[in-house]
Amino acid sequence: MSRKESWGSRAGLVLAMAGNAVGLGNFLRFPVQAVQNGGGTFMIPYLVCFLLMGVPLLFVEWSMGRFSGQYGDHSAPFILQRLAPRRQFWWKYVGVFGIFTNLTVAGYYSYVESWTLSYVWHSISGVFQGRTADEIAAFFNNYVLHPGAEALLWWLLCLLLNVWVLSRGLKNGVEAVAKIAMPLLVLFGLFLAFKGLTVQAGVDGARFSSAEGLNFLWTPAVGSTIWDPKIWIAAAGQIFFTLSVGMGSVQCYASYMGAHEDVALNAMSAGWMNEFVEVCLGAAIVIPISVGYFGVDWVVENTRNGGLGLGFRTLPYLFQQWGPAMALLSGMCWFGLLFFAGITSSLAMGMSIMGFLEDEFQLDRLKSACLFGLAAFVLGLPTVLFFSHGVFDEFDYWAGTVSLVVFAMFEMILFAWVFGMDKGWREITAHADIQVPLVFKFIIKWVTPTLLLLVFVGAFFKPENNDWHAVLQGQWVLDDGSVVHQILNTRLKKAMAAATDAEQLQTMQEQLNYVNLSRLLLAITFAGVWAMVYVAYQKRLKKEKQA
Ligand code: TRP
Ligand code: TRP
Repeated sequence: MSRKESWGSRAGLVLAMAGNAVGLGNFLRFPVQAVQNGGGTFMIPYLVCFLLMGVPLLFVEWSMGRFSGQYGDHSAPFILQRLAPRRQFWWKYVGVFGIFTNLTVAGYYSYVESWTLSYVWHSISGVFQGRTADEIAAFFNNYVLHPGAEALLWWLLCLLLNVWVLSRGLKNGVEAVAKIAMPLLVLFGLFLAFKGLTVQAGVDGARFSSAEGLNFLWTPAVGSTIWDPKIWIAAAGQIFFTLSVGMGSVQCYASYMGAHEDVALNAMSAGWMNEFVEVCLGAAIVIPISVGYFGVDWVVENTRNGGLGLGFRTLPYLFQQWGPAMALLSGMCWFGLLFFAGITSSLAMGMSIMGFLEDEFQLDRLKSACLFGLAAFVLGLPTVLFFSHGVFDEFDYWAGTVSLVVFAMFEMILFAWVFGMDKGWREITAHADIQVPLVFKFIIKWVTPTLLLLVFVGAFFKPENNDWHAVLQGQWVLDDGSVVHQILNTRLKKAMAAATDAEQLQTMQEQLNYVNLSRLLLAITFAGVWAMVYVAYQKRLKKEKQA
């Protein structure tokens, strides 16, 4: 058994937690979600979801972690189990989600993280200098769609870096990195936000001033669109992803706190820090700069398939318009901040796995860190090699999106209803350095679980074209994008049925195979983690009997 680990300082803990939350999602996912969901219209649902789901979940996950950590539990399955009565032995299997998500996401997340690292290098070495937009785009497409030795080497380097930091432990590894990375990230972000906010029409080839992009993001269209459930589901999804809730990693980090440390203020500090980085910095870089050069319509059109293109294709090109010195500096800052954002999150995924291995299988730090690196490599490999076949998206959909909501829903029920809200409230407020408004007791017990249920049902049974008015009138035809139809591959099958030439059909058949193989792999991983939790439980029972 490894020596008992704990955080070195309160500032270190808060920075590490903020680092866990602040990730690629803040800079690449958030702006795109906002753009795709009506710009300013997105902000109100987003803020409501933060207050009614994000904040309560942070309180719950932090106090859950601190509570079970006292008993030496540092992994989602056994942290959850500790809150339940003994005869409800199944709660540990709900915690399987908390291991599964981190394990699976770590694979593809570390891959994207490695792009940022390699792009820091490419920015410094001047690869993008004097290149046209098409050339820079082609460079990225080639890098991602046909990963060669170079892409693989950067990925391995990135994984090794993660393993090395993790093997140094909580205080000398994770916390030390967060203390350097987070301030630098904010500094780089402030610099780029300043550049973003001062884009001027007619200067450096920009066609619009940054006001154009900012107005688009910050003018709420209070009207009918705000009640579109699609926007609410997107907002809820973003809140989960960005705060790292519903994943098990917040609980894991919190389980290494002292029993008498504050939870309430710490949770709020880390949570609001994430919101500052997301809403103030994340919104002030990619969108205003891209809109300044290409206009709102172009940006909306070019983010339909996510934010990676804007970050890796558009920005490196636009930086070149600012002259060689500024291009180098901006490129370093942009990809450097993405790398810092990424690594502090992937370390959290790693710790969540290591806590489990160290507690239950008595591995030491180095061994469990290496095992995590290896697992991330194996699970990431299909997403890397078959990126263009949609494996990445399949993994991100199930492990990085659906799982979070399922896990969060169960843990809320456990905390508020099984553990009990009176005990729960005492846990949240014990040793608190702020007074938590009493209304949160009510919110945690009633509002958050209800909202989670709505999001869950909404995603599973999303009606055709997202037309919830039809549902109210009794017509519930499921959309091809609903989870139910995702499982059934309806969209692809329809396309196959409509296909006319054989070649097209062959391509789609192939794609279907890749989707099914990805799911098989995900299912095997889930079952594998389940089995490990079962074995760990048997070991615990045996030890108890001997004692
Ligand atoms: N919150 C991170 C971001 O905004 C993502 C993240 C951190 C994550 N830990 C995770 C995603 C665990 C899935 C699982 O980018
Ligand atoms: N797919 C999302 C988008 O492009 C972003 C995203 C989801 C992401 N998961 C990720 C980015 C993991 C990096 C890493 O909008």
